[in-house]
Amino acid sequence: MSPFLLTRTLPEDATDAALRADVLHGLTCTPKSLPPKWFYDARGSALFDEITTLPEYYPTRAEREILLARAPEIAAATGARTLIELGSGSSDKTRHLIDALTSLETYVPVDVSESALRGAANTLLADRPALGVHALIADFTGGLALPGTQGPRLVAFLGGTVGNLLPQERAAFLSSVRAMLSPGDALLLGTDLVKDEAVLVAAYDDAAGVTAAFNKNVLHVINRELGADFQADAFAHVAVWDRDNEWIEMRLRSRVAQTVKVQALDLAVDFERGEELRTEISAKFREEGVRRELAVAGLELTHWWTDARGRFALSLATAA
Ligand code: SAH
Ligand code: AVI
Repeated sequence: MSPFLLTRTLPEDATDAALRADVLHGLTCTPKSLPPKWFYDARGSALFDEITTLPEYYPTRAEREILLARAPEIAAATGARTLIELGSGSSDKTRHLIDALTSLETYVPVDVSESALRGAANTLLADRPALGVHALIADFTGGLALPGTQGPRLVAFLGGTVGNLLPQERAAFLSSVRAMLSPGDALLLGTDLVKDEAVLVAAYDDAAGVTAAFNKNVLHVINRELGADFQADAFAHVAVWDRDNEWIEMRLRSRVAQTVKVQALDLAVDFERGEELRTEISAKFREEGVRRELAVAGLELTHWWTDARGRFALSLATAA
């Protein structure tokens, strides 16, 4: 029997209904906004992977540095037999963890991107053919139906993706993670840290324009899935640092006054010249804030590791 299983817990029509609801709500409210999970069709996932190699985009390299240094400690502290990874993407950095987890039997990558899950499982199983891989196409914010697995379990949420959730969403999400944990299980959380504004903005507005293409990909997704007529060139990529909220905000700014039609919703959306559509927040953290948010969710921070330059942190937490 193949050790690779792919389960779709999001029926295709549910994904379609969720996209319709998000687009209808997001394009008719003021200011306009869309949730970032819609970036990640196959092209969006490939563009994200390209972002991780850009000179300006430091988080992936910084988190990899921590994982390489700390994976043995994480393995010793958790003794995990199951690794559940939320928003796993290519699972590239995760391989350092998998290599160190000597008791690991099953890996459960969870992602909305089927192409990312398939690519990750193929690469992983070429190296670790005996590892059980049960991939789940699912939304990690929406009540996960996880397969029954052996404890101790380690739930990993890497890359700083937790920062793409709004504060209220983050609180609900962390509580749902707490509810997944049995005694002896742990959470490994990656968080990007507050730093110099110029470094942050450059990471989200790279010279090669890959992040701009990633940002605009959401328009291509809506055109394809909902028969919209967005002209990607009629929007400019914008990345700004919100000092008060300590997050980067990605937006698409309408270069002209225009009306966009979304056929499947029977909707016409007016954009004024210069009007902005928020497509993502990427919150940056401090140790005390992470500790506090975990505590509110019933989780206790037991380890805090950063890269040598203090740019990114990995936290290990257990049920309080
Ligand atoms: N963990 C990887 C990938 C980060 S990119 C890394 O550290 O490099 C964010 C990933 O989360 C993408 O693969 C995207 O498809 C996935 N994702 C975003 N929102 C999601 C959601 N609501 N539910 C499940 N997966 C989601
Ligand atoms: C997935 N996530 C953590 C990325 C981030 O840095 O917030 C997504 C991204 N957006 C623009 N570049 C990368």
